[in-house]
Order: sequence, then structure tokens, then C-alpha cells
Amino acid sequence: MKIAVIGAGAMGSLFGALLAEAGQEVTLLDIRQDHVDAVNAEGLVVEKEGTRRQIRIRATQDANSVGPTDLCIVFVKSTQTAEAARTVARLAGPSAPVLTLQNGMGNAEALAEALDPIRIIAGTTSHGATFLGPGAIRHAGSGDTVIGPWYEEGTAGAEAVAEAFDKAGIATRVVAEVRSVMWAKLFINVGINAITALTGIKNGQLLDLEQTRRLSRDAVEEAMAVAEARGIAIEGDPVEKVFQVAQATGTNRSSMGQDVDSRRMTEIGAINGFIVREAQKVRVPAPVNQTLSALVETLQAHY
Ligand code: PAF
Repeated sequence: MKIAVIGAGAMGSLFGALLAEAGQEVTLLDIRQDHVDAVNAEGLVVEKEGTRRQIRIRATQDANSVGPTDLCIVFVKSTQTAEAARTVARLAGPSAPVLTLQNGMGNAEALAEALDPIRIIAGTTSHGATFLGPGAIRHAGSGDTVIGPWYEEGTAGAEAVAEAFDKAGIATRVVAEVRSVMWAKLFINVGINAITALTGIKNGQLLDLEQTRRLSRDAVEEAMAVAEARGIAIEGDPVEKVFQVAQATGTNRSSMGQDVDSRRMTEIGAINGFIVREAQKVRVPAPVNQTLSALVETLQAHY
């Protein structure tokens, strides 16, 4: 399968490298010249639990050099999804599936504005990765990847994508109703990302103090009330799940934490900001998410 990964940050580079290692023809498309040059020169270095692999993979900054692809995987920051959608429209054949595994909400919608919606596959992944510098990432943790057609009518080739992912060691499940899975992941990001980004702590340290546990619980409970008002089915106990993920990824800095550390724009608008906007629509109060959003927005405005 000829695959283009749009956005080769930590997660895009990880997925691209695992697929390339499994024999797929992968190109990483990224705006950072130093990263592209390093990957082309030496391959992508993937560190995992003290081991180090060097994976040969092609990278480019030039979308025109990629050629027609069978699958596009979008991994750019949610603030860049609309632009990525225009790139995808040029790259992929008119019926080739387009997969988003980005954090936050609104990405599939942004892709659907530029592309035939039945091509879109959305999903979530529990893999964790950290960008170590040009040409190098750390694979910080493995977990399930769940994907499904964004529109009910679309089959969008999700089964073929899952098969290719499984062969690359990315355990993947296909579901018919992907929206509730995405909300479940959103709860996790709502409960971890902004709090760790604002305080400088690692994911696991969120559990150390009653103050941060409470903040996380309150943010997630607000998000659950919004989901309920929107008719989204909630499974299990999302707050408990947030605490479990914080524990399991304890030594990691969240993706928003990494963004703030590197003075990059964050995905706050697609996470807590999304909850605030949805809360307004369904007239549910969301003061904790509003405060977390305002603080992260202030922080990034003053980099
Ligand atoms: O955004 C992230 O960092 C991750 O989605 C998660 C699950 C919060 C772990 O760090």
C-alpha cells in the first residue's frame, strides 16, 4: 500500500516508521526541514524501552513529490487540519481513504469540508510518542487503536487499513460507531492535557495531589454532561479511565505539555475549547474547561 503521513511529529513519525518497517511504501510529509533531512540521511531513530532502531523511510516537505497514494494518514496538529485537507485532496486518488488519528475534536469535520466524506476514517490511538529532535522519537507506550468510518454510509476501507496496521504491530479494531470512541478519548485529553501543560508536571504527577485530581475530575464531569446533552453514549467511568491513563503514561509529558515546553501552539481549541463551545450550544455550564482554555490560550499568546 502506498501511504502518505501528513504531519510527521512524534505520532506521525511513529506510525509511518512502523508501517514502513512492515514493508509498506510510506512517505512522511512535514514542514520541518531539519527533521526531513535527518530522516532521509540516517533513517528515523525509534527509541523504545532502552532499545534503539533506525528505520529507513522517505520524508519530504514537497507534497507534489509524493505522487498518488492509496491511504493518507493525517497527523498534523488540529490547528492545521484544514490546510492538511487541501494537501490530501491533491495527493490521494478521489476514493482513497483518509484517516485521522489526531487528538481532539473537529478534525474529521475539517477534512469532510474539503474531501468526499465517505472516504474519511476517524479514530483514536493509545500509542504514545515523544519527539526527541530531528530524526528521532521515543515510542513511549503501546495500546489499542480504534477506527471506523466517519459517516455511517461510508465503508471507507477501514478493514484494509486495520489489516495493514495489525501487520505493522499496531493492534487495531474497526467499529461501526466511532464517535463515542472519540468522545471517550476526548475525556482523557480533557482530564490530562491542559492541567499538565499549565503546571509543568508529568501525566502521573496529576495523581499526586488532591488539587490536580479534583481539577481533572471537574473538567471531565463537565465534558460528560455536555456529551450526555448531545446524546453521546458514555461507557464506563471516564474519570477513572483518565486516572488509569495518567498512571499508565505516568512518566510522559502530555502532547500539550510538550507543545508548551517547545512554545508551539497547542490543541486547546480542539480539546477543552471544544467542550466550551459545545457546552454553549447545549446550555450546560463548563466553567472549569473555560478557565483551563483561557489559561492555556493566555500562555501560548505570550510565548
Ligand atoms: O495527548 C496526549 O498526550 C495523549 O493523548 C495522552 C493520552 C493524554 C497521554 O499523554
